[in-house]
Amino acid sequence: MTDTDIKKGLAGVVVDYTGVSKVNPETNSLLYRGYPVQELAATQSFEAVAHLLWHGELPSHEQLAALRATERKNRALQTDVKAAIDLLPLDAHPMDEVRTAVSVIGARETAGISNVMDAVGTHEQNLERSIRLFGELPAIVAYGQRRRRGLEPVDARDDLDYAANFLWLTFGEEPDEVVVDAFNRSMILYAEHSFNASTFTARVVTSTLSDLYSAIVAAIGALKGPLHGGANEAVLHIFDEIGEADNVVPWLDEALAHKRKIMGFGHRVYKRGDSRVPTMKAALDTLVAHYGRPDVASLYDALESEFVNRKGIYPNLDYPSGPAYNLIGFDTLTFTPLFVASRVTGWTAHIMEQQASNALIRPLSAYNGPDERHIEGYFPDTAALEVAERAEEAAG
Ligand code: COA
Repeated sequence: MTDTDIKKGLAGVVVDYTGVSKVNPETNSLLYRGYPVQELAATQSFEAVAHLLWHGELPSHEQLAALRATERKNRALQTDVKAAIDLLPLDAHPMDEVRTAVSVIGARETAGISNVMDAVGTHEQNLERSIRLFGELPAIVAYGQRRRRGLEPVDARDDLDYAANFLWLTFGEEPDEVVVDAFNRSMILYAEHSFNASTFTARVVTSTLSDLYSAIVAAIGALKGPLHGGANEAVLHIFDEIGEADNVVPWLDEALAHKRKIMGFGHRVYKRGDSRVPTMKAALDTLVAHYGRPDVASLYDALESEFVNRKGIYPNLDYPSGPAYNLIGFDTLTFTPLFVASRVTGWTAHIMEQQASNALIRPLSAYNGPDERHIEGYFPDTAALEVAERAEEAAG
């Protein structure tokens, strides 16, 4: 085994097939079940895209109505979930709240299943679980933000679609159409991205025949990291540090001198730009105009052009989505939970795909620890050895 045999970070390793999405770095394209993501974002609701990810086709009128009806039925903040969140410190990270909430839902939904082999569930059960979780998550994310602001939860609105209801649950105000549209687009763009770290985590857990909720809890843990989902939060911290466009050059000089990673730039797969950025940047532009905040656009453009010129590393989706969520009014800490509410669709599609054609995911490692050694003064238990030898003789 040589160093070149080791695929650190699994970079470049193809571990399985997937029919859920295709990332093509050569053409900068991302397809969900064959459809370019920018076409979906321009024409579809997030509910329709969720159906597409789960079923492989866009929904008919009736199918979309059925999905929306089930999603609406599950919108309420359940008392068990609220009670569990309320036990957490007010300054707990909201990703910890969401992770805890999904654990509570998992314990509730799989209660009474005593045989561990049954917890994995049938495809139909997992589809139902996926839709219910999709329906429950907005109230959980919204409650996290309201709780930190000392506000009570608001009741879901049955007359609003997913994106508008999500904003209503968070802010308690009917949102403007332009804001709903930008938010809906962001949810679609974040929904799926092939074998990224959190999706792969969900598939690893699923491959052991564990249940869907355990896989989602693990995926949330993976998404929390700043090299993955946590980057959109980090972009806002950077914007706060820089302050305004005129400060970009000295700030970047200093940051690069200290070898800092500039969050919101770079990608493991896309090396010439992230296919989702133009759509999200266009949504950000509509929000900048809506809220009258050209200063945000100037800072965004200044940092992008300066960093791309110096390093040739392009923005990823977190770069435009961070400021967009900030303009809408989400707390910086809520950004990654929003990613969870969206990505739960892709994760669950992958979980069901893994279940349909499972192989335990168990890679190998090259050992580089100490050579074999022994505990000083330890002598093998001779009585036990004699028993073993006699058993061997008896066995012939
Ligand atoms: N800021 C500064 N330098 C960066 C960078 C960034 N955002 N992204 C990559 N680089 C540099 C690395 O320092 C490295 O330089 P080196 O060869 O001199 O050591 C080189 O580019 C290659 O980077 P590497 O980390 O090996 O690329 P990767 O494919 O493993 O990493 C990311 C991809 C996403 C982990 C990385 O680009 C990153 O950390 N980005 C910031 C976090 C982020 O926005 N994550 C969201 C991803 S959707």
